[in-house]
Amino acid sequence: MLIPEFSSFLLRTRIIMGSEVLATLPDELARLGMGKIFIVTDEGVSSAGLIEYMKEYLGEIQVVGTFSNVPADSPLKVVKSLSEEVKVSGAHGMVAMGGGSVIDAAKGANIEFSLGGSILDYEGAGLIDSPLKPLAAIPTTAGSGSEVSAFTVIHHQEEKSKLSFFSPYLCPDLAVLAPKMTVTMPGVLTAETGMDALTHAFEAYLSTEANYITDGLALQAIADIIEYLPLAYVRGVDEEFRFRMALASTSAGLAFSNAFVGCVHALAHAMGGILGLPHGRINGMLLPYGLEFNLSEVEKKLCQAAGYLRIEGEGRERAINLIGRVRSLAKDLGFPASLQEAGVEEEKLQAIAELASVDGAIFTNPKEATQEDLLKVLEKAHEGGEIDGVL
Ligand SMILES: [Fe+2]
Repeated sequence: MLIPEFSSFLLRTRIIMGSEVLATLPDELARLGMGKIFIVTDEGVSSAGLIEYMKEYLGEIQVVGTFSNVPADSPLKVVKSLSEEVKVSGAHGMVAMGGGSVIDAAKGANIEFSLGGSILDYEGAGLIDSPLKPLAAIPTTAGSGSEVSAFTVIHHQEEKSKLSFFSPYLCPDLAVLAPKMTVTMPGVLTAETGMDALTHAFEAYLSTEANYITDGLALQAIADIIEYLPLAYVRGVDEEFRFRMALASTSAGLAFSNAFVGCVHALAHAMGGILGLPHGRINGMLLPYGLEFNLSEVEKKLCQAAGYLRIEGEGRERAINLIGRVRSLAKDLGFPASLQEAGVEEEKLQAIAELASVDGAIFTNPKEATQEDLLKVLEKAHEGGEIDGVL
């Protein structure tokens, strides 16, 4: 094994998990000084009755406000109105219950709630350099990893771009993984968020910043998602399948929060900003092509993953078989077979490649990816070409 000159792994979030985990919420929140909480969620979670269900477990903890309509992609305007509401509520901290958009919006609002000023002053890496108010995350999807990650991504709708924020202080203080929280998730959302988690795991595993610890977390997540995502998709009521996906998604979140991601996320950020398509849907369509593009640099590591998954073949052929397995998983989950089928116009590809070539995620991609390279990846994904190692 190569000894790195320097590598690191940040542990900040306390993760609690299990079927009875909600019963410990009063103690867990009190320990964080959260006697008064502000709940952040979305309409789907709220109408599924999950907020009321969670409230039954709160005991002495007082709810002083609720924001229940965070839309997809955590728009900047919503983050700003959320932070205004939290500031006047008297809350000690927030409990974000929902998917990645809800948790990311709460993280964004927590910047203004805790530090004052505008969130825009903190865009980028490392500009938040002091602890924020306490934040607990209860994911209701298994995909974003936001419950443990040091990132938040906010959609600037006017500028059609995604704003990324990175700081260790953005890691929630508490992540609560309860299988009941994800059983109500519709099939399409299960598929899209699950493929987002798989993309986190693969990109963290292949990243230039990967290390021994992130590799372990990412490999376990890759294996579990490939096995359990199709099961959770067809039998969502099964709490064991859901719990496996919750664990795998959080493992992938820990991996990518430390090792970062790569070209698929760079393209997904650009495409999400320009076209407004769901993040997980884009990742699910692009992941096989991103892996194929990186193949020449990461063949050995992909073969190791293929071995872990007992995928047959030797060398390059084995790595291609693994990528093929990812593609057939996306097909089985009902993903469009090409960007064209997903309604992406060919004329938009150039602008997407241009934006992706300067996205922060591109810097940890294992292979250098120019704007022209990224355009080739998009063009092949647009026509839905076979995975043959030629990219
Ligand atoms: Fe993602």
